[in-house]
Amino acid sequence: MAGARGEFSSRLGFILAASGSAVGLGNIWGFPTQAASNGGAIFLLVYLVLAFALAYPALMAELIIGRHAQANIVSALRQVSNNAASRFIGALTGFVGIITASLILAFYAIVAGWMIAFALAPASALLRADALASWLTGFSTERNLLFMLIFMLLTCLIISGGVRNGIEKWSSRLMPMLIFILLGLIAYVMMLPGAMEGLKVYLLPDFSRGIDLQLIVNALGQAFFSLSLGVGVMLIYGSYISKQENIVSLGLSITLIDIGIAVLAGLLIIPAMYVAQHNGVQIFDAAGNLIAEDTLIFTVLPALFDTMGGAGVVVGFAFFVLMTIAALTSSISMLEAPVSYVCEEHGLSRRVSSFLVSGIIAVISALIVFNFGDLFGLVINLTTRYAQPLLGLMLCIFAGWIWHRNQVLAEIKAGFEQAEQSLFWRIWPIYIRYVCPLAILTVFAQKVLG
Ligand code: TRP
Repeated sequence: MAGARGEFSSRLGFILAASGSAVGLGNIWGFPTQAASNGGAIFLLVYLVLAFALAYPALMAELIIGRHAQANIVSALRQVSNNAASRFIGALTGFVGIITASLILAFYAIVAGWMIAFALAPASALLRADALASWLTGFSTERNLLFMLIFMLLTCLIISGGVRNGIEKWSSRLMPMLIFILLGLIAYVMMLPGAMEGLKVYLLPDFSRGIDLQLIVNALGQAFFSLSLGVGVMLIYGSYISKQENIVSLGLSITLIDIGIAVLAGLLIIPAMYVAQHNGVQIFDAAGNLIAEDTLIFTVLPALFDTMGGAGVVVGFAFFVLMTIAALTSSISMLEAPVSYVCEEHGLSRRVSSFLVSGIIAVISALIVFNFGDLFGLVINLTTRYAQPLLGLMLCIFAGWIWHRNQVLAEIKAGFEQAEQSLFWRIWPIYIRYVCPLAILTVFAQKVLG
């Protein structure tokens, strides 16, 4: 039963909400382009191994701590601590996590705003509003600001509805739509000339490249971003899971869905690029690498849609709606991290907290929009390259070293009586104590030094 705190109404409710958080621009845009520029199927293989071996254990740490503490990340890390020093470090880690989630939302909302603008562009072109269409797809401060604000407002309205009437309700509506549109687009693109060549690049490993350290670093970073780890997002979602649920299998479902959608998105994006090439669009840069990142999404793909005639309008619209949906179910989880903190620690109502926090984040986002060249890349780097792995490391330390092992086991056993005899309990404690922290440190050192 839901008490004063919110709680997901069912297993499925949690799965849709948490996979909604996990599945985002990172899956549909980040993963395929990383795979394309890191040797195709080799990247896929490394990614699969790391996602299961390292990201899944870290996800479990967040879910277990969250469900045990029934609170936001600041209060949760304080609760699992056993002395004044670790309580202080816990609160500090939680606080940095919340700030990081807010900063991630600040840049994510700008990118998501572009997706909305690009979704509206084909419709306005159809209505012969050509000036509007080119304003929507052109890079301007006004456009960036307007659509960032629209996206923030949508995110805020959903979060102000609460756990069941906001997060769960909208994730349950949007996630099936996302899967439906994704599958429809894949089916369509696969029938076009050129698609098979892209499929080969994506699925056949190019062993000549080998597996270098940089590839591993990229794959681990991608897995952590994709599972929304480190900043207390999964922790707060975990706190809304009923004590009767088997949390180990829930975490596994989220990991599988997240990986599954990323792999599926690769089946769309990479073949689509080769269809574009077939239609005369440039898909390699001067150095001979596949064009990636923003040029891929906002130049190569729209150029492809343009070559498709009438169908291109529909396909382009569907694609950017897909991106918008993916972004929205992720952004609500980012906003929930600071909002739950403000609600729980400062006693403000959910409505007031949602609007207050969204307002502050919108101001930060606007600052980024006005100083785009200086701040956009900087904020992305700071949050995803530095803060996220370090916070992930801290969470592993809290789950593996600071929190009492017996309490951890008791929490897992709540919905999983045979937990003690399970494979999970034989492996996970070792992972979270030694393997995950060491791996994260190695990757982090690589990033900083390399
Ligand atoms: N996982 C989402 C994606 O793949 C993004 C996301 C949501 C996220 N919540 C997060 C990333 C928290 C980092 C931290 O796009």
